[in-house]
Order: sequence, then structure tokens, then C-alpha cells
Amino acid sequence: MHNARVDSPHGFVGQSPQIRSIRRQIEKIGTSLSPVLLLGESGTGKEVVARSLHNANPRGAFIPIDCGSLVGPLMESELFGHVRGAFTGATENKRGLIELANQGTAFFDEIGDLPLDMQVKLLRLLQEREYRPVGSLHRQKVEIRVIAATHRDLAREVERGTFRQDLFYRLNVIALRMPPLRERREDIPQLVERFLSRFGTYSVSPEVMDALMHYTWPGNVRELQNCVDRMAAMNPGPELHIEDLPSAVQTAVLHSATPGLAALANALEPRRIVPLDELERRAIIDCLEYTHGDRGMSASLLGIGRTTLYRKLKAYNLDIEARDRCHLQPGS
Ligand SMILES: Nc1ncnc2c1ncn2[C@@H]1O[C@H](COP(=O)(O)OP(=O)(O)OP(=O)(O)O)[C@@H](O)[C@H]1O
Ligand SMILES: [Mg+2]
Repeated sequence: MHNARVDSPHGFVGQSPQIRSIRRQIEKIGTSLSPVLLLGESGTGKEVVARSLHNANPRGAFIPIDCGSLVGPLMESELFGHVRGAFTGATENKRGLIELANQGTAFFDEIGDLPLDMQVKLLRLLQEREYRPVGSLHRQKVEIRVIAATHRDLAREVERGTFRQDLFYRLNVIALRMPPLRERREDIPQLVERFLSRFGTYSVSPEVMDALMHYTWPGNVRELQNCVDRMAAMNPGPELHIEDLPSAVQTAVLHSATPGLAALANALEPRRIVPLDELERRAIIDCLEYTHGDRGMSASLLGIGRTTLYRKLKAYNLDIEARDRCHLQPGS
């Protein structure tokens, strides 16, 4: 079985073959100080894996570094620290993130956003295991494990010249790719259970679970977690029902070909064939939910003019207040 340390304390949930394989690799990587590159779409759990890697061999601190925010004149000092008098305003010595991560793990999140001049400095740090704080004459030794994550295709960034090839090779020694949630739907029930358990005694109806299992989750686990949190926040429970789901997730089940789900689709919509105006109404509801009621954006997403949208809203009785009552109840 998998290592309990890998699961806790931050919770790395999932029993799909892909997640089991990731767990095995985390254990194999173990105490190695080689850099690890985590790839995968947004919300797939790259940071969860980074923390699991750290916890599998918990020495020192886990220091997350948001590379997208390392811009501007202070970024070098942010990372490497500075000595007193290094520049105007540097009234004290300041420790940088790298020093805080010494003997531990530096997690470079969104490494693809690291500016090119900082890429050079990171490469030197990886090669020489030392760095120089801003304004200091002395180089400092460090021993850190570097974990980097990105949702971008770094090889393509290298081709485009926005990411240094030498740094890419250096980071790409051990690469783990987090699969999107839609490719490991069997993890969904466990994730839902884990997320719901934070709110007390909630449960979901079988219909809700069917819908959750069939939605495509473009925002992956993060989107699932937001969906569950929102449902629990808005419903006293204990059981959550299909109408408590966002309408985009509700309708996922209607597009499913699974026999058990067809029955549910029938319950929501007694006719097998959905009339065009009902499809249109649902498209408008989905879009308004998606844009948080922004009619201008909805009109352009739907490919119709604003006036046409207003006319249809009126015709379908979909004014803002009416919107929530109208979910999928045919012909209201
Ligand atoms: N396997 C998992 N078990 C439990 N929670 C998870 C799992 N995967 C992701 N999560 C949760 O989903 C959310 C998103 O995960 P995380 O921040 O690790 O994704 P990410 O890949 O770093 O996304 P991004 O690229 O957008 O930064 C977090 O709240 C995290 O706790
Ligand atoms: Mg992240």
C-alpha cells in the first residue's frame, strides 16, 4: 500500500491508476535532491504533489515562490535577500526566500512566468548551489530541493525563446505530469467526500454524484472543490440534490449516454427530444451563470446581439431573480 506520509497532512486523495502511479513515483524520488518538474493543467493538484514530495522527506521548510509575482526591481532581493545599504531603502539585512528554504524545499510555482533574467540566476543557483545576496560581496552556500510547477508547455516556451533551454534541461530531470480530472473520474467520489467532510455531515444524492462524474471539469480538482464548497455553503443539508448543482454541472448528465443516467435525464425532461426553445433557454441560463449575470458578455458568448438577448430573456421569463427558479424546469 501507499505510504501514509505521502497522504498527510495536506491530503492527497485518489485511487485511480494515474494517482497511484504518481504516489509510487513520489516514494521513489524520496530523499533525492534532484529538481522535480510538475506539469499539468491548472487545478490538477501540482501544489498538493509538491507538498507530498516535501512531506515524504520533511527536512527544513516548504517555501512556495510565486514566480509570476517576481517582477520589478525588488525581485532579486525577494529571492536572494540583500545586505544593508545595497540600495536606497535597504536599511537592514534581509533574508531572501532561498535562504528560508535552505535545508528544505523551494517550490517555484508557475516557473514559466519567471522573467528571463531571473531564469539565469536560478540556473546558477542549481548548478553551483550558491548565490549572492544583493549588495553582498560573499556567496552563500545552500542545500535546497527545487520543485517547479507549470501549466504551460515549457518545451514550446523554449522554442519561442521565452524560457531558457539550459534551465529547462536542468529542471526536466524528473518530470511528473498530473492528469486532468476528466481522465480519472473514478477519483471524484473520494474527492467529494473529502471536501464535504470539512462541513460536517453532508451527503450527495446518487443523481448529484452521476452529474459530478459526467461533467468535464475544465478547472479540474479546484473547480470540483469550489463547486462542493458552494453547494455546502448555500444549503443546510444534510443531503444535496441535483438542483443544488450549478446548471452547467446539472446538464452534464443530460449529455451522458449511460442508461441509468438517461432515466434521470427523463425525469428532468420528460420528452426524449428537447425542443429547440428549451435548448436555447438552457444555453442562456448556463451563460448567465457562467458570466455571473453579465448580459453584455453573455450576448457575445452566445453570438447574438444585446437587444436580441434582452428580448429572449423577457420571452423566457429569465430576469435575474427568475433565473434561479427556472433551472431546468421545462416550460415554466
Ligand atoms: N488529489 C487531491 N487530493 C485532495 N485535494 C486536491 C487534490 N488535487 C487537488 N486538490 C485541491 O484542489 C485545489 C487545486 O490544487 P493545486 O493548487 O495543487 O492545483 P495546481 O495544479 O497547483 O493548480 P494551478 O496550476 O492553478 O496552480 C487545492 O485546493 C487542492 O487542495
Ligand atoms: Mg498551483
